[in-house]
Amino acid sequence: MEFQVMNERVAELKQTLIETAQAPADAPWGLPGRFYVDPDYFEHEFETVLQEGWHCVCRSDELPETGDYLTLELLGEPVIVVRDATAMKAFANVCRHRGMRLVDGSGNAKRFTCSYHAWMYGTDGNLLRAGRMKNASFDPKTCKLAEFACVERFGFVYVSLSQSPPDIDEELEGLGALIGSYEPENYKIVHAGVEVWKTNWKCLVENFMEGYHLSVVHPQTLHDYTPTGLSRKGPSGKGFTSYFANYPEEIESRGHGAKNLSDEERHRSTLFSVFPTQVASIAATLLVSLSIRPISAEAIEVRWTMSNYKDELDQETIKQRIDLWTEVNREDREKLEAMQTSLRSVHATGGPLAEPDYEGTIHDFLLWLARHAKL
Ligand code: FES
Ligand SMILES: [Fe+2]
Repeated sequence: MEFQVMNERVAELKQTLIETAQAPADAPWGLPGRFYVDPDYFEHEFETVLQEGWHCVCRSDELPETGDYLTLELLGEPVIVVRDATAMKAFANVCRHRGMRLVDGSGNAKRFTCSYHAWMYGTDGNLLRAGRMKNASFDPKTCKLAEFACVERFGFVYVSLSQSPPDIDEELEGLGALIGSYEPENYKIVHAGVEVWKTNWKCLVENFMEGYHLSVVHPQTLHDYTPTGLSRKGPSGKGFTSYFANYPEEIESRGHGAKNLSDEERHRSTLFSVFPTQVASIAATLLVSLSIRPISAEAIEVRWTMSNYKDELDQETIKQRIDLWTEVNREDREKLEAMQTSLRSVHATGGPLAEPDYEGTIHDFLLWLARHAKL
């Protein structure tokens, strides 16, 4: 009975999502608060859009050498990401013998040896050795580590937990035209940080992707460079959206960056989201990316990285930028954590969204969510 009630509520919310996304283009509307607080709805998202989606797990240059690996929890699944001799790969960090976590942290390894009974795996996931396993029926070939879909695009590593993930190149079609000239694969990582925020995962996607709040929430940190009034909607594709945070004329560009950039491209930051959980900002010499890892309806782990174009910047500038973005993230976090509590109100019914230049990306996100809602 309880299960039935739960499903009815989730079904009702899905219907509301579809109707909200269908609002006329000149009357866009945001989602009611329940979408951001309801544990049952979160569970539904967890099993559908989040399981099926591609998630940015790190930058490619965090694992530059063969055998370099890192571990993470992705939607509750322990995962190893490793640069194998042939490609970047992702495996379940779970020994095929009796389920021990195979490896912790990050490092470089030729093989992964389980700490429990010493089964040994190659970086291609194959079981190489299992001491004393003399049962006639034992076949090491059937004991390869479970593998997840893993690809590199634009210098980012994406993993999906789905057995049949969507074609990432279809999802990202159009993103290359938008950010390719920055040469995103040539940015080098200079910082990574992990924090837990008490907010719903969709709130951070929406917050990062709208320019409406820039001058209000970031008066000291971002307003001079990227004031709200100069925000312009950028292109969107099947699985991403974008907007341009243009700099005022009197402001210098943020360094030179890639040689083929136009003056316009040097004079703005391009913010993009690869749905469902990556938000990022790329400028001539600066690339900031946030990977959102949903924990519950009201909590996320945020892993953010900063990268700079080749070696163009000196250490002092890099430090200033890390400090600046630490503060920007703190400002956003403060707002989102405060909003999370009021989103529980029955009066958080969803409200009108601003025009596309300011909040059109939120509408794109709703359309994407609605397309993926399964009734
Ligand atoms: S659980 Fe890994 S070798 Fe036994
Ligand atoms: Fe912000």
